[in-house]
Amino acid sequence: MIKETEYYKDLVDRLEKTKDLSNEEFTELLFCDDKEAVEYLTERARAVREKIYGKEVYLRGLIEFTNYCKNNCKYCGIRCGNKNADRYRLSKDDILSCCDMGYELGFRTFVLQGGEDPYFNDDRMVEIVSDIRKAHPDCAITLSIGEREKESYQKLFDAGANRYLLRHETANKAHYEYLHPKEMSFDHRMQCLKDLKEIGYQVGCGMMIGSPGQKPEHFVEDLRFLQSFKPEMVGIGPFIPHHDTEFANCSAGTVDMTLRLLSVIRLLLPDVLLPATTALGTIDPIGREKGILAGANVVMPNLSPGNVREKYLLYDNKICTGDEAAECIRCMSARVSKVGYAVIISRGDHISYR
Ligand code: 5AD
Ligand code: FES
Repeated sequence: MIKETEYYKDLVDRLEKTKDLSNEEFTELLFCDDKEAVEYLTERARAVREKIYGKEVYLRGLIEFTNYCKNNCKYCGIRCGNKNADRYRLSKDDILSCCDMGYELGFRTFVLQGGEDPYFNDDRMVEIVSDIRKAHPDCAITLSIGEREKESYQKLFDAGANRYLLRHETANKAHYEYLHPKEMSFDHRMQCLKDLKEIGYQVGCGMMIGSPGQKPEHFVEDLRFLQSFKPEMVGIGPFIPHHDTEFANCSAGTVDMTLRLLSVIRLLLPDVLLPATTALGTIDPIGREKGILAGANVVMPNLSPGNVREKYLLYDNKICTGDEAAECIRCMSARVSKVGYAVIISRGDHISYR
């Protein structure tokens, strides 16, 4: 039965007020065909975002420092089984000069992202993190280097890392197993997230939207997981097929579903940090701008050196692979201002996250 616009608008209002809906109501809202209701969802998410963060958009400088990876996630272009990937590693000096350059450009958060590369063992990572910490005591250091053991996370934290991004990818165990080879474990991923939180990291999790095998009820499980885990950040972006993976011929996630989820998450966890991701900007030329208007409040321009950017190809047609950092930040600021917002350069520490 088709329901009235008012019915869906009531769901939005109740979600905003109580930060909750029933499983069935979440699904109804995410899949409804009512354009006016979806616009209302966007409007409320934007209002909540503006109440907390005003028109500010936080910048995080992304340094993709290695595309070696020991994992073989079925969706990812840099999985170890992809023999066509042109592998690279930045040296410690390369990474430090990326940070210095980023600092000059005004960045105060550096996100070190890489595949699970055994070369970057605890000793090497601790050295890198401590050197950045020494050079830039006023900056936040975010790591996004996958699953490790708790002692390892603890060492990196003690060396000066503050934040950690590890997407859960999907909160449904069977779906997780469908997306990953059997060597990988859903329970271990969840344990990592728990460990990171216990150590004291500000933690970001997140999922791909429209990944192969994803069902409507999986979205509800993701939202329930976010409610209970209470991450500081939620990174979501559409799944985009990569030609050298077994999901090459699968369809990509949609802009519409990604935007709806951004808005629902903004209402569910009002002060969470929500990036408008590169993947969203890849499937739609103004996807990141649309994301900001749907409740996102973070963008992560690429600070990696120009000559390695096109090698960090998680999916096809990734944007920002040709630009130098300064160009990327200029482009991003212009895009953000065009929709009436302003990038600010700060750790965002004046905000209380929970
Ligand atoms: N499409 C979209 N996102 C992807 N990621 C990896 N491969 C893809 C893809 N094909 C995302 C995963 C990972 C993050 C670094 O990039 O969610 O956690
Ligand atoms: Fe990277 Fe536009 S934001 S080039």
